[in-house]
Amino acid sequence: MAAVRQAASDAAQLQDTRRAFDSVAGDYDGPRGNNELIQRMRRTFREAVCHELPPGSRLLDLGCGTGIDALWFAQLGYPVVATDWSPGMVARTASRLAEESLPVRAEARQMGIHELAALDAGFDGSFDGIYSNFGPMNCVPDLAAVAGECARLLAPEGVLVFSVMGRICPWELGHYGLRGRFTRAAVRAARGATAVGMNRHTIWTRYYLPREFHRHFAPRFTLVEYRALSLFLPPPYMVDYYRRRQRWCERLGRLDDRLGPWPLLRDMGDHFLMVMQRR
Ligand SMILES: C[S@@+](CC[C@H](N)C(=O)[O-])C[C@H]1O[C@@H](n2cnc3c(N)ncnc32)[C@H](O)[C@@H]1O
Repeated sequence: MAAVRQAASDAAQLQDTRRAFDSVAGDYDGPRGNNELIQRMRRTFREAVCHELPPGSRLLDLGCGTGIDALWFAQLGYPVVATDWSPGMVARTASRLAEESLPVRAEARQMGIHELAALDAGFDGSFDGIYSNFGPMNCVPDLAAVAGECARLLAPEGVLVFSVMGRICPWELGHYGLRGRFTRAAVRAARGATAVGMNRHTIWTRYYLPREFHRHFAPRFTLVEYRALSLFLPPPYMVDYYRRRQRWCERLGRLDDRLGPWPLLRDMGDHFLMVMQRR
């Protein structure tokens, strides 16, 4: 009975999250949605994928949003299947991919990460890499099930590259704590799914320490490396701070590049980037 109630609650939360992302799909790539701090994190993420996998490797994008990364990888010669739970986001990806003449096959599919089982046996072992950028994995109820599906879909020794919202973001604690918004400051401490507002909708979000996240994948995947993203730099929603103090922030960015992979520091930051390999 408890399992049935949990499944119903998960399903309702997934619908809320889908409505939230649908509502912003139209202007997701606008000046705030694709700002300098996001671009910086995106660069580090893409470098990690390229470091692990040469062009020609077959990629699956989980939570592709408007397809910014999928297009970029396809242009470099990586065949991509780009998926997202939000129909609005997938429509943006599909038109973005259709507008370009690409050297490889790239397609968009409306599909949640929790629905990977819908990729039938014909897809078994058909990807060299699976990636997910900017937190889609934080919106999934059952990560252990996702890990099983990823293991099925990946070729032997295939890799996962994920950027995931972490639990300890010192900038966020300071930003909201100093304004007396203690509940907001503590939102990442919640156990399980917590409601995060966006555009008058709710995104049900699960925050993780890197070790909490990896635990779900550990039975099938070896941890290759992980690092902090935007630890010294503020999170992307503080882009106005960045724009007012660009020279200072450039220095902070260099600290992120250099110290992000260090022990202890890598357990903090707005996001963490994790690379795992199928055993
Ligand atoms: C912050 S956006 C990141 C989009 C894209 N990866 C990027 O780098 O711009 C998060 C995306 O995750 C998608 N998402 C949320 N929950 C999902 C789920 N359960 N399955 C698949 N996609 C999901 C949203 O629709 C949204 O497009």
